[in-house]
Amino acid sequence: MSELSPQAMPNHVAVIMDGNGRWAEQRGLPRSDGHRAGVDAVREIVRAADDLGIGFLTLYAFSTENWNRPKTEVDLLMKLPEEYFEQELPDVIQRGCRIRSIGQRDRLPPNVRRCLDDAVTRTQDGTGLQLVFALSYGGRGEIVEAARRLLREQEAGRFDADGLDEKVFASYLDEPELPDVDLLIRTGGERRVSNFLLWQIAYAELLVSECMWPDFGRAELTAALADYQQRERRFGKTSAQLPGATR
Ligand code: IPE
Ligand code: IPE
Ligand code: MG
Repeated sequence: MSELSPQAMPNHVAVIMDGNGRWAEQRGLPRSDGHRAGVDAVREIVRAADDLGIGFLTLYAFSTENWNRPKTEVDLLMKLPEEYFEQELPDVIQRGCRIRSIGQRDRLPPNVRRCLDDAVTRTQDGTGLQLVFALSYGGRGEIVEAARRLLREQEAGRFDADGLDEKVFASYLDEPELPDVDLLIRTGGERRVSNFLLWQIAYAELLVSECMWPDFGRAELTAALADYQQRERRFGKTSAQLPGATR
């Protein structure tokens, strides 16, 4: 297993958990089995991320575009958060993790809203891993919603356009405390962003894994982090300008 440097851990890891359907199809199983196996992978990755000292883990569980899938598949996907929290919440609480959510809350069925609210409330004092679920989430929608909130403030006379900068704008996003993404992982091999965290990934390091999500476990996460730690993040500067440069 790769050696990781605890000082060089990414603060925010975001994951596009893709490939459940193909994982199932490769085994001659229904897609629903792939999604259930995907929940087991969530369990393992949350534990591993917490053990490894990652600050924020954001998991893309359901996109706004995923509402266009067949109703039976959507219905199954909307049952999984409840199953996950029922099983995992005690462990998550014991670890001191805090759960948050981003996305269009109003579009979620009542059972999902209820279990999400319950998880958020019961973990609100958690200072360990900040675990963010993106449910009915779309990056463009989040940015438009932020603009709407800002315009409402302006209409109410509480906001002046001259006071707008990137930091202020970010404070109107779904989860203002969410920092920029350091490492964006996409499983399932596709090389696209699929409307995930468009604002927050401005300078993210990208890692596409060929592994289907249900097969992505602690070892794969560790390998992804080791890959991240080999990279040089320049943020527009030259190598020579970076701390520790010898040339
Ligand atoms: C990701 O797996 C889960 C969701 C998008 C909800 P998919 O269901 O997209 O799996 P593939 O991409 O069809 O294999
Ligand atoms: C992205 O996967 C959304 C989630 C993992 C929740 P999709 O399978 O929906 O992405 P596309 O459609 O292949 O871009
Ligand atoms: Mg997919």
